[in-house]
Amino acid sequence: MAARGVGMLARLPLCAQRSQVLRPTHRLLSCPGTVAADAKREEQSSRSVETGSEDRTPKKKFSEVQKERREQAQRTVLIHCPNKISEKKFLKYLSQHGPISHHFFYESFGLYAVVEFCQKESVTSLQNVTRTPSMETEAAIPFKSRFFNLKLKNPSSQTSEKSSIPCSNHSPPSSKKLSELLCYAESVDDQLNTLLKEFQLTEEDIKLRYLTCSLIEDLAAAYFQDCTVRPFGSSVNSFGKLGCDLDMFLDLDEIGKLNTSKTSGNFLMEFQVKNVPSERIATQKILSVIGECLDHFGPGCVGVQKILNARCPLVRFSHQASGFQCDLTTNNRIALKSSELLYMYGALDSRVRALVFSIRCWARAHSLTSSIPGSWITNFSLTMMVIFFLQRRSPPILPTLDYLKTLADAEDKCIIEGHNCTFIRDLNRIKPSGNTETLESLLKEFFEYFGNFAFNKNSINIRQGREQNKPECSPLHIQNPFETSLNISKNVNQSQLQKFVDLARESAWILSQEDKDRPSPSSNQPWGLAMLLQPSVVSSVSLAKKKRRKPASERIKNLLESIKSHSPENDTDTNGKRTVSTQA
Ligand code: GTP
Ligand code: MG
Repeated sequence: MAARGVGMLARLPLCAQRSQVLRPTHRLLSCPGTVAADAKREEQSSRSVETGSEDRTPKKKFSEVQKERREQAQRTVLIHCPNKISEKKFLKYLSQHGPISHHFFYESFGLYAVVEFCQKESVTSLQNVTRTPSMETEAAIPFKSRFFNLKLKNPSSQTSEKSSIPCSNHSPPSSKKLSELLCYAESVDDQLNTLLKEFQLTEEDIKLRYLTCSLIEDLAAAYFQDCTVRPFGSSVNSFGKLGCDLDMFLDLDEIGKLNTSKTSGNFLMEFQVKNVPSERIATQKILSVIGECLDHFGPGCVGVQKILNARCPLVRFSHQASGFQCDLTTNNRIALKSSELLYMYGALDSRVRALVFSIRCWARAHSLTSSIPGSWITNFSLTMMVIFFLQRRSPPILPTLDYLKTLADAEDKCIIEGHNCTFIRDLNRIKPSGNTETLESLLKEFFEYFGNFAFNKNSINIRQGREQNKPECSPLHIQNPFETSLNISKNVNQSQLQKFVDLARESAWILSQEDKDRPSPSSNQPWGLAMLLQPSVVSSVSLAKKKRRKPASERIKNLLESIKSHSPENDTDTNGKRTVSTQA
C-alpha cells in the first residue's frame, strides 16, 4: 500500500513566480554509456508526457526492463557514508575495485551512496577488503552483504572537507509547492502532467528499489540458492508514486529447473526434499524462515512482521537505509503478471499515467484510500477503474484484455495455477488509439462516468471492457483480470463507495463550473486540479448540499426567503463555488 500521499493542500500563497517553483535537478555523475542512455530515455518519456504526443521510440518489454534493472542491481552496492566526505576521494577509493558506471547520494537519517560498478567482480573485490566491525558492548553477526558502512580512518584530518555532496531527492513535493505548481500551470492538461512529473518515481528511486530487492535476494539465497526476489506492484507497473511501498516476490520457481539437454540418458536425478501438505503451508514455512532471517541477520531490516495467515501470506518490514516499507510474498506469480499488464497499459498512451496519478492523488487527498488496510478503495482498484473508463471511450483509448490476448503469439502464452494470463507483451505491435480527447475532458468525464455508474448492478471488467451484471452482492465489484471469479474490491463497504460517488459527482460539478469561470493565474485562487485536491473544497460542497436536505417546511421557508432576496449573482452555481473556495 502507498505510504504517503498528497495530503492536504495548504491555502495557496499564489504570488510565487514560476521560476521559484521549478523542479530541483539532480546531479548524476556516471559512466558515459549507460547513463546517457538512461537520461535520454527519461528525457524522451517526460517530453512525451509534457506534449501529450506519443513517443515513437521502440518500447521495451516488461521482462526486458526487469532483466536489465536486476542485472544493474547485482553489481551495485549501498554505502552508509560519513556526513563529511569528499566525493572525489570516495569515488577514487572505490574505483580501486573497478570502474563505476553510475552513482548517486541520498539522505535518509544519514548520508547514503548507491554505487553501480561496471562489473559484478568489483563487488566481490570490495567485499574481500571489508571487515566485520568489532563491537565493544554488543556482538556483531558476521553477515557479508552488499550494504557497507564507510568510516574515515582519521576523522579529524578530514573534517575541514565540507560536505557539498549533491543528494538526490526521493520525496514528493510539499503540499505548498504542489499548489504553486498547479496554480501556475497553463491548463488542466498541464496540471495533470505536472502532477505526474512531480510524483512519479525518479530514476534513482527505481534503482534503489531494485537494489533493495537484490539485497534481500542475497539473504534468501543463503537458504534457497538461485532464488530471485523481484519487485512488483506500483514499484514497477509505472503507476508508483514517490513514497509508495515496495512489493517483493520471492521467486523459487527457477530453483532446480533443468534444461532438457541435461536430462538425456537413462537416469533422472531429483533433489531429496521435505514435503508438506499444501502449497500454502509451504509458502508459510518459507516466509516464516525468511522473516526470521531478515529480523536477525538482515542489515537495515527492522520492524519485521510475519503475516502468515493472510489470504496471501507475507512478511512486512522496513528497510531503514532505503526508507521503503516492504512486503515480501512468495507464490504470488499472478500479481507479477498483473504488474506487467498495468505496465503495458501505462505505456500504451501517455494520458493513462497522468490520469491515474491524478485520480490516486485525488482519492488520497479525500481519504478515499489509506495506507492502513480496511474498507477503503485501493490504488490497484482505482487504476483498474481508470483503465476500464479509458476502454469505454469512443474511440477507445485502451484495448481490452481479451483483445490483447488475441494478439498474443506462442511465446506470450502464460497459464498460472490454471488461469489463462496470456496477452501480447510486445508493446510495439499494438496500434495506438485514434482518440484525441484532452486530459481535462477525460478527468471530468471520469468523474461523471463513475458518479453515475450503476454500481448496484454492474461490475467493472477490463477483460471485456464492458459493464457486466455483478455475480455477487459486494457494493463495488471489480473483476480480477486473471482470476476472474474474484473481486479485487471485495473489501469496499457501501459507505466508502457512496463517499467515492459523492466526491466524484462534486468533482465533476466543480470542473464544469471551472469551464465557465477560471480565475486568472494572478488571482489568489486555486483552480482545476488544485481545487479538486483540496479536501475542504469538495467536502464543503457536499456539506452545503447536505444542509439543503432540511425538513420540507424549513426548505420552503428558505426558498421563499431566497426568492425575496433574489439577485442574479446569488443564483448561479458559480457563486456557490466561489463561496466555497473562499471558505476553504
Ligand atoms: P500502492 O498503493 O502504490 O502500493 O499500489 P500497488 O499497486 O503496489 O498495490 P498493493 O501494494 O496493494 O499491491 C501490490 C500488487 O498486488 C498490485 O499491484 C496487484 O498486482 C496485486 N494486488 C493488490 N491487491 C490485489 C487484489 O485485491 N487482488 C489481486 N489479485 N491482486 C492484488
Ligand atoms: Mg504496493
